Amino acid sequence: MPQELRFRDCQRQDHDRCLAIFDGNTPEFFAFQEREAFERYLTKERLPYFVVEDGQGIIVACGGFVIERGEADLAWGMVERSVHGQGIGTFLFDQRLEAIRKTGASVLHMDTSQKSLGFYKRYGFRVEKETLNGYGPGLHRYDLCLNL
Ligand SMILES: CC(C)(COP(=O)(O)OP(=O)(O)OC[C@H]1O[C@@H](n2cnc3c(N)ncnc32)[C@H](O)[C@@H]1OP(=O)(O)O)[C@@H](O)C(=O)NCCC(=O)NCCS
Repeated sequence: MPQELRFRDCQRQDHDRCLAIFDGNTPEFFAFQEREAFERYLTKERLPYFVVEDGQGIIVACGGFVIERGEADLAWGMVERSVHGQGIGTFLFDQRLEAIRKTGASVLHMDTSQKSLGFYKRYGFRVEKETLNGYGPGLHRYDLCLNL
């Protein structure tokens, strides 16, 4: 890990920073029309959602998951656009996976675009469904699955 990173629960006062991270990744990785759904998601306080802080205490990534009927779904994972490629996405994924394993979930689902597909495939996710322009024009949706 190139720097000290801290994984902690997301608090209400972190929401604006999470939305700013979303905005920095739009429209390259997210479609503008997804913002409202993300904002709504952040207010669902009972769902596990986390942030990653760098050594200065600045939030550089966020992401969560949902457990339903013994299966997990990754939700809204993202790294601040200016610090992609520094290992932060790996840290965020590993920490979430560790938390998910503790729940005893047997399967992990997620969806992402063609822009991040390669990142998740490295973990062995398989593509279950491909929806062209599923998030918006030019942003295809891939539903992925990983047995835990
Ligand atoms: C996908 C994402 C989380 C990856 O985070 P990151 O911090 O840039 O990734 P890392 O630096 O940890 O990358 C680790 C490795 O994955 C590779 N990698 C990163 N993004 C990749 C991609 N899109 N395709 C293929 N490989 C990728 C890196 O090259 C690196 O490889 P290496 O270890 O051989 O050097 C980040 O790009 C992101 O936030 N994207 C926007 C949001 C998004 O699309 N989220 C998807 C789910 S909602």
